[in-house]
Amino acid sequence: MQKENYSNLVKNYEKKGTILVPFSSSNNPLSDEDFSKLKNYCTNVKKEFIEIGDAGEKNHLLVGRFITDVKKPEIVKNKYSKKVITILKKKKLVNFIKKILKTKKNIFLRRVQFNEIGKNCFVGYHLDIDSNPDYIAACVIQLGSKFKGGIYRVYQKKSKKFYDYAPSKGSLIISNCLYPHEVTKVKAGKRGSLVFFVSYKKGLNKRNS
Ligand SMILES: [Fe+2]
Repeated sequence: MQKENYSNLVKNYEKKGTILVPFSSSNNPLSDEDFSKLKNYCTNVKKEFIEIGDAGEKNHLLVGRFITDVKKPEIVKNKYSKKVITILKKKKLVNFIKKILKTKKNIFLRRVQFNEIGKNCFVGYHLDIDSNPDYIAACVIQLGSKFKGGIYRVYQKKSKKFYDYAPSKGSLIISNCLYPHEVTKVKAGKRGSLVFFVSYKKGLNKRNS
């Protein structure tokens, strides 16, 4: 059992914009049972292909949606969305995220989705606040570990320096949405994760205004 105290996690989040909490860590707020449930819901939810490729390059994501945030957050009608949300709203998880963010404010779930990146695919360099300027942090629960590559790479704001995070089964990444990042090419297998964005605001998505 790895033990890292909160203050180290908070310090690393402030310094590098991202932390990765392994499932084996006593700090990881997800129970075995909730992890299995989330994995099951993500496996069974209906998915769509999203093309994210640069010109001419075959690159896609398989996405299953629970909350969309196009104009505002909307729960997707399927058997699983509410069950996923119930788990993500559990006190232990919410309080953990708030501790890392050093906030006492309420946090709201905005976009919640399952992403699967297949072999030779990746997610290019981007900023999450381009999807919604009110996003504070992206949280990523890794669902499987049968893949190679697919590193979560976070660039620092004032330098070309970056930090790499290799997600493993059940790990939780919390990443500041002001930091540019990418997911490097998956070299083998499929990299499935549940991604959710938290915000202090629950209203309209101000992206287009
Ligand atoms: Fe992102």
